[in-house]
Amino acid sequence: MLDVNKKLENKNPQDVLNYAFENFSNIAISFSGAEDVALVDMSVRINPNVSIFTLDTGRLHAETYRFIELVRNHYGVNIDVLFPDAIQLKKLVSEKGFFSFYEDGHKECCSIRKVEPLKKKLSTLDAWITGQRRDQSPNTRMHVPLLQKDHQFSSEGNDLLKFNPLAAWSSGELWEYIRSENVPYNPLHDRGFISLGCEPCTKAVGPNQHEREGRWWWEKAEKKECGLHIESVDS
Ligand code: ADX
Ligand code: SF4
Repeated sequence: MLDVNKKLENKNPQDVLNYAFENFSNIAISFSGAEDVALVDMSVRINPNVSIFTLDTGRLHAETYRFIELVRNHYGVNIDVLFPDAIQLKKLVSEKGFFSFYEDGHKECCSIRKVEPLKKKLSTLDAWITGQRRDQSPNTRMHVPLLQKDHQFSSEGNDLLKFNPLAAWSSGELWEYIRSENVPYNPLHDRGFISLGCEPCTKAVGPNQHEREGRWWWEKAEKKECGLHIESVDS
């Protein structure tokens, strides 16, 4: 893994994607409906049949649902939409209501709406591709490698790999790509939303606020991750 990271370190995201598609056929992009659309744009040029999935938590912004549909049509790709388990969700909502995360934290809801459906999907793959970048969170993502073994979601007999082709790019570089290549993007980004997640848990940020401050803003914890990328949190 170290060797591959060394080999790829100064390469651009497209080279990382090339490497990923050359070496893995059972691989998919995890697309959130935000600026990680750049990954979809780059990938379809290399591999028009690329597999893409998204986690529909049921709580995304209306704009995000429309955007996912737009991406599907714009690139002519199929996007596999993953849903939470209905029984677990019904139990949570009937016992605690729709907004329990404001009272007792986001972990329980994220676990049901995001982590469990992701776990199920990843158990069918050899590798996945995410849009994580080091500059997204100074507290949890500054060491994100281009390629890593996914310890969180590997299972016995299945060593899952995780590619983060955008890891070394800054937000500025990513947005330069989106604009110069005329990549369609979620309109919420023009309204102050930088990091985009679920509607009740994401807000626009103001001048000089870091993008991560708009996520789960009522929680004081500095190391804010929802559980999709737990290895990003060192402790
Ligand atoms: S999160 O863990 O805090 O929610 P973030 O929004 O920064 O993650 O996104 C980082 C990467 O995680 C995305 O580029 C994408 O690969 C994956 N991801 C996040 N949310 C989703 C989602 N709803 N569906 C699919 N992938 C997602
Ligand atoms: Fe639930 Fe908020 Fe997590 Fe979305 S981000 S799954 S609404 S706690």
